[in-house]
Amino acid sequence: MRVAILGGSFNPVHVGHLFLADGVLSGLGYDRIVLIPAFQSPFKIGASGASPRDRLDMLAASIAGDPRLTIDDCEIRREGVSYTIDTIAGIRTRYGLKGKPGLILGDDLAPAFSRWRKADEIARQADIIIARRLFNPPNQGDSAPSGEGLPKGKDPDFPFPYTGLNNEVINVSSRLVREKILQGENWRYLVPAGARFIIEDRNLYRTGNKDKAEDSKASPGITWETAVLLENASREALSLSRFLHSRNTALLAWDLCVKYRLDPLAGYLAGMTHDICKPMDNGELLRLARKDGGTITRLEQEKPALLHGRAAAVLLEKKYGITNSEILEAVRYHVAASRDMGALAKVVYIADKIEVSRDWVNPALRDLSGTADLDRLFETVLEHTVACLRDQRKEVSRETLRLLAALDTRKRHEKKN
Ligand SMILES: [Fe+2]
Ligand SMILES: [Fe+2]
Repeated sequence: MRVAILGGSFNPVHVGHLFLADGVLSGLGYDRIVLIPAFQSPFKIGASGASPRDRLDMLAASIAGDPRLTIDDCEIRREGVSYTIDTIAGIRTRYGLKGKPGLILGDDLAPAFSRWRKADEIARQADIIIARRLFNPPNQGDSAPSGEGLPKGKDPDFPFPYTGLNNEVINVSSRLVREKILQGENWRYLVPAGARFIIEDRNLYRTGNKDKAEDSKASPGITWETAVLLENASREALSLSRFLHSRNTALLAWDLCVKYRLDPLAGYLAGMTHDICKPMDNGELLRLARKDGGTITRLEQEKPALLHGRAAAVLLEKKYGITNSEILEAVRYHVAASRDMGALAKVVYIADKIEVSRDWVNPALRDLSGTADLDRLFETVLEHTVACLRDQRKEVSRETLRLLAALDTRKRHEKKN
């Protein structure tokens, strides 16, 4: 196996790092790239910076599903100043390499390489690969094909044998990403998705800028990493049209949560997963729904499809470890509604009924979602949904009828006073 080493601070890892690694794999015939984040003194990290653990986690989340890439934390475990010569010796021994590993250097680092500790020894122990790191705008660089290994050679500025990698350069650096985050500019697609979610979840690299959603209430323990895991689970479980309905529900729930000052991520997650059990057969729905301890009504017994909300809440809790009671309640009650619904459950109920792909929705209902308070919007959508059921001569569940009766009583009471 031919292995090459790519070191750096990875603070954070960005698409340029992985694009370069891919270029060495495909252009020079290596089998695996070992990404080695450098140790960084914990004393140098500001409150908004990334710890070594954050940097490792971002790397790990960014390379999932690519067996050609791996991470070695030897320099972080060693702490202090890391010398490349020690790293190379460790990699050769631990990976049982027969030949020399490749060592990828950016051309920005090459001029100072002679001053590295035991530079000549490094050049004997590793095959040095010099890659382009500095951005050449179109028409100003040379026109050789990308990823092509140039012949080994010597350069007056680099007095060691090396292989030049004529790679395309993506004009991105970790510093650029950090600055953009700090300034509240667009940075999200400069880093791999896994790193993006960790930056968002841990609020890395920002000291003052606030997203619109940060004004809303955030629930502890709900992260983008979880939301993405469940979004993929929904995508796998559902047909494309049902998945798109779920995503639209999640997006509207997000918007409504921002409007009503609830946790948008909780709304997104509940919206994304509310129908995850819809494709299940009757037996599976009954088996799952029974686990919530509630009784199965006659109507649910006759039409187990009505249990897909209760079953999804059980699945989220038991299979995916979601313990947030508001999310579980929102998913559980999205079918028949309930007198026990909290604000998030109302939001998800509304979003499910009026999201953009439901083309039979009365436009007045959508208009109302821009102006009304949450309770008024919920009651209007509920009444509209029940009226539709009655039009279609479908039976309305007992819980929905109880909720309607309770709302009626409240309205009469309010009128009196
Ligand atoms: Fe549903
Ligand atoms: Fe739905």
